[in-house]
This record gives sequence, structure tokens and C-alpha cells, in this order.
Amino acid sequence: MSKKIDIESEIYKSYLGSPYSTVKQSTYFSVYDELFKKFKNKEITFLEVGVLDGGSLFMWRDYLGSEARIIGVDLNPEAKKWKKDGFEIFIGDQSKESFWNETLNSIGKVDVILDDGGHTFEQQIMTAESTLPYINDGGIIVIEDCCTSYMKKFGFKKLSFINYAKKLIDNVNKRYMEFDNQNSEKRIWSVQFFESIVALHVNFSASNLKSERTFNQKEEVVAKDFRYASYPLIIDRLEELSNKRNYRFFRVFLRLLRKTILNIYFLKSYISLKKYLKSKNII
Ligand SMILES: C[S@@+](CC[C@H](N)C(=O)[O-])C[C@H]1O[C@@H](n2cnc3c(N)ncnc32)[C@H](O)[C@@H]1O
Repeated sequence: MSKKIDIESEIYKSYLGSPYSTVKQSTYFSVYDELFKKFKNKEITFLEVGVLDGGSLFMWRDYLGSEARIIGVDLNPEAKKWKKDGFEIFIGDQSKESFWNETLNSIGKVDVILDDGGHTFEQQIMTAESTLPYINDGGIIVIEDCCTSYMKKFGFKKLSFINYAKKLIDNVNKRYMEFDNQNSEKRIWSVQFFESIVALHVNFSASNLKSERTFNQKEEVVAKDFRYASYPLIIDRLEELSNKRNYRFFRVFLRLLRKTILNIYFLKSYISLKKYLKSKNII
């Protein structure tokens, strides 16, 4: 039987122990543990967008330890009242780049941004984009309640936060050497998806590595690559023929023929794959 909450997660204990109200989804606690445990008991800067009743500020302090600098951001000026409890509070609109530039220039670099603010697509995307230049190496931007990407009242779905995150994945993959990597993503190393939570991981040295094929200086590969072995033999035969010297005048024709046959088989596999994924409710 499935459990409602992972009561073993450490953050859940801090959540229950908070003296003020905070509302978190039952599935978030294990995700928080996975993402934030490496920041525990360290001198880190943790910024949460969305203060509301202040309960989560106390939860983060208890979980991360007294060395962590806990900062709250909210548009509601009443949030300032939590300053008396030792939290740093900044009032402003998370969808404004100018607010972030001004605020983060005064705060300095941050290790974690957790966005639990207004959850519109503009607020989520602008928070991610505007805070990215201020994240320490090894830090993360965590956007929660991405379920709003599938709801009408948070913006036009074409530019939902999840669609933006998918675009970031394309840009990460474009770092691969053979693609036109002018638009490749160098700021974010990896993108991680959980239920309704997306984490953008920052690791400058890894994301700026030049993507190229490496060899371990052993004997060359002599085994045949079986990629198309389950396809008709003619596909491999046409490839071999087009590489032979005495067939060089037909090279263009042989390659075109091979490509056409291959595409017919790709179409066949596309149709059966689509049927298969539909039967599993994946698409
Ligand atoms: C979901 S509540 C935060 C809950 C809190 N993090 C917790 O766990 O208890 C959302 C908060 O985001 C704030 N907010 C909404 N729009 C905002 C915006 N554009 N900029 C900054 N804060 C915003 C709201 O005032 C509200 O306090």
C-alpha cells in the first residue's frame, strides 16, 4: 500500500516542528532531502521565494542548521516581520529581473534558490533566469509546484515553466560535439525532474568542458557494430558498397537509396513504438 508521506525524511521532522504554519505537498519531503542534504550544517545561503506565514523559514533553519543564512523573499511587505526572528527578508516582485539584480547584488552569491512564490510561468521562469548568475558553483535552483504548467490560470501553456525546462534540456544536449552548440547551455549542468519540482544544477567546470570523443589508447575497435543488424541486410550492404572505390561514381545514388530504405524502416518503427507507448499510457 502506498504511504501518504515519507515520515522517515529528515525534513519532515523539521516541518512538523515549525512553530508557524507551512503547507507542503506530501511528495516533496523526500525530494528536499535528496536535493538539500549536502547543504546541511554548512555555511550556505538559502533563499526561499514565498514567505506567507513564515513556517517554512523555521523549517529550513532547523533542517539546515544554525550556520545557514536563511533568506525569505515575498511581495507582501508584512513578511518583514520575520526579521525579528533572525531571518533576512527582501520585499519585491520575483518576476522582475531588476528586483533580483538589486537584491542579489546586496546579498551576494547564493547556494540554493527555492521558488515557492506565486507559481505563474512568468514568475517561475524569470526567477530561474534572473537568479542563475548569482548561484555558487555546486548550487541549485529549485522550482516547486510546476504542476501549474498544466493549469490555465498561470499563463499561456506554450511558455509554461515545464516547456522552458524542456528547452533547457535541449540546450544541455546541444553541448554534444557534433551539434551546432552556439546556443548550448553552459550555465546549467543538469536538469532534474521530480513530481511538480524541477532542479537546475550549477557546476561550471563540468558544463564548460569541451565535448569531444576520447579513446583510452587501447587496441582499435575491430568488432562489427550491430546497430542495423536487425534491419534488412541491404542497409549494411549499401553502406559497404558506397565506401568501395570501384563504386565511387554511384556513391551519391547508393547513399540516397540506403537513406530511403532506412527511413521506411524508421517509419515502421515509429508507428509500432507510438502504439506501444500509447498502450502504456506514456503518450
Ligand atoms: C505558497 S505561498 C509560500 C508558502 C511558504 N513558502 C510555505 O511553505 O509556507 C506563496 C507566497 O508567494 C508570495 N508571492 C506571490 N507572488 C509573488 C511575487 N510576484 N513575488 C514575490 N512573492 C510572491 C505570496 O505573497 C505568498 O506569500
